[in-house]
Amino acid sequence: MPYTCPLCQLPLTQHLPSKGYYCKNKHHFDLAKEGYLNLLAVQHKKTKEPGDSRAMMRSRRNFLEAGFYQHVAEAIAHMIDKHRDKTPMSILDMGCGEGYYSRQIEKLCKNPENLDLHGIDIAKNAILAAAKKQANAKFIVASNKRPPYSDHYFDLILRVYAPSDDSEIARLLKHNGLLLTVTPGPRHLWQLKEFIYKHVNEHELNVSLSKGFEQIDCQRVSFKIKPEQEQRMALLQMTPFAWRAKGEIQSKIQRAHELEIETDFVLTLAKRADFSV
Ligand SMILES: C[S@@+](CC[C@H](N)C(=O)[O-])C[C@H]1O[C@@H](n2cnc3c(N)ncnc32)[C@H](O)[C@@H]1O
Ligand SMILES: [Zn+2]
Repeated sequence: MPYTCPLCQLPLTQHLPSKGYYCKNKHHFDLAKEGYLNLLAVQHKKTKEPGDSRAMMRSRRNFLEAGFYQHVAEAIAHMIDKHRDKTPMSILDMGCGEGYYSRQIEKLCKNPENLDLHGIDIAKNAILAAAKKQANAKFIVASNKRPPYSDHYFDLILRVYAPSDDSEIARLLKHNGLLLTVTPGPRHLWQLKEFIYKHVNEHELNVSLSKGFEQIDCQRVSFKIKPEQEQRMALLQMTPFAWRAKGEIQSKIQRAHELEIETDFVLTLAKRADFSV
């Protein structure tokens, strides 16, 4: 069983016909009708609605579903296939949001029937949306800081712009497990930043690896996109600098004629250094 109890850390087992999950201490968690499991203990909830808001989640979903980041999804699927053998593979998307990349992995990877797909996010609204759209994947509401999964359950962890804890990632991965991280490259969203900052600086292309991991593959994916006015606003909402672009700046971005924006992503695949032979 993949899950552990968020209250006492014992394994959770599923009981039929209710499909609810229980631990030996009789802590009980219902499976929502959309098929996801809420394992976020109330005492670990710092706010009423932790994680991205519903509005942010909708913006991201509309933008991603329009296909603007399709090349990134393709590169992710390709990298997974390249480093995969014929045996079934369990994959966890950490901070999966509304599950776009998980759906794309199922769609684009070879032999998806051999993939055991999981997603975790602290935002319940995002997990609900993800579960509704992908019956073949298992989604839970929980924090990446205390992911309630058994030790060494996963073959690969995907992390796309999401916070996480290195020691928990090492705990969740099998000994030869892989960590695939997607981070922004030096020229990511350059033309959007030009509206916001006086001087836009190209930061160095240095990928900081999680502690105890060593890089085994890396790919830079850069391409240009031309989002319409509303889609630009959605994209802006997805960025950490959205809060800087208020009022006049925001309307300049919205009104700009045919704005072409560079995107720049770095995919880094790493494996646990302590088991590299
Ligand atoms: C920038 S979004 C990226 C979402 C998705 N990976 C994507 O690229 O479409 C960051 C996500 O991390 C989630 N998040 C933030 N803090 C978290 C935590 N402590 N545990 C799990 N998820 C978290 C947010 O709710 C949000 O869905
Ligand atoms: Zn328990």
